[in-house]
Amino acid sequence: MFSERFLTKLRNARSIAVLTGAGISAESGVPTFRGDDGIWKKFKSEELANFDAFIQNPELVWEWYWHRKQIIASIRPNPGHYALAEMEKLYNCFAIITQNIDNLHRRAGSKTVYELHGNIERNYCIACGKYFSNEEILQSQDKKAPRCVTCNGLVRPDVVWFGELLPQDAWNASERAAKRADIFFSIGTSAIVYPAASLPEIAKNEGAYLVEINVEATELSLKADEVILGKSGEILPKLLEAITLQFQ
Ligand code: OAD
Repeated sequence: MFSERFLTKLRNARSIAVLTGAGISAESGVPTFRGDDGIWKKFKSEELANFDAFIQNPELVWEWYWHRKQIIASIRPNPGHYALAEMEKLYNCFAIITQNIDNLHRRAGSKTVYELHGNIERNYCIACGKYFSNEEILQSQDKKAPRCVTCNGLVRPDVVWFGELLPQDAWNASERAAKRADIFFSIGTSAIVYPAASLPEIAKNEGAYLVEINVEATELSLKADEVILGKSGEILPKLLEAITLQFQ
């Protein structure tokens, strides 16, 4: 399943970076964004995932986010997330860069996780910046469109909406991880949403071996050194097994 060249790279790698997208959480039951069953086929992103829409109709936006928060709270990491958390223990320098907001990497035990699009388990006040957990906003108020207990400002989910900048610290750390990576994985992402989609190329330009894991070919496949077609929840545990053998 894995080429000799790839296995040698895995044995010798000092630094690994992994970009993940919605596909890695698909086997946990989180819908992806694109494709026939994708979220953006059923909902209009401009009505739900941008700041102007939120100001105009916070109740509608919150209704959708409460729904997504509930789904995400009820699901669990899958073998793909757990395999990555185990891989982190085998390398000194290992970073996950995720476009997902579901917090499943941390829940699986991964330690170095850069969240490019935020985290649905956090929320903050748009007036004073105070952070709230989901439990805090659920407890303290009417769940329609929560308000800050300190200043009464509107509270929003800590996720990146269309037209917004990525969190600068997470981006800088991700770019550094991509530049120093000996192997860069792109897993379960269509790799078309920028700037996250530029990271595989940044890594490759700096000499990384580029590996894609996806159920289907993407625009990135032609540039990848290794394309492994299949479900990440099935491939990553096998990859972990292969790496463990390399280190014995
Ligand atoms: P997409 O929905 O665009 O792509 C999901 C990818 O996962 C596709 O390439 C699928 O083929 C692949 N896939 C599905 N199931 C899989 C499985 N079990 N194993 C491996 N691969 C699988 O999701 P993203 O690339 O994450 O941004 O989308 C990027 C961004 O676009 C999101 O973070 C979101 C969205 O608009 C914001 O909300 C800011």
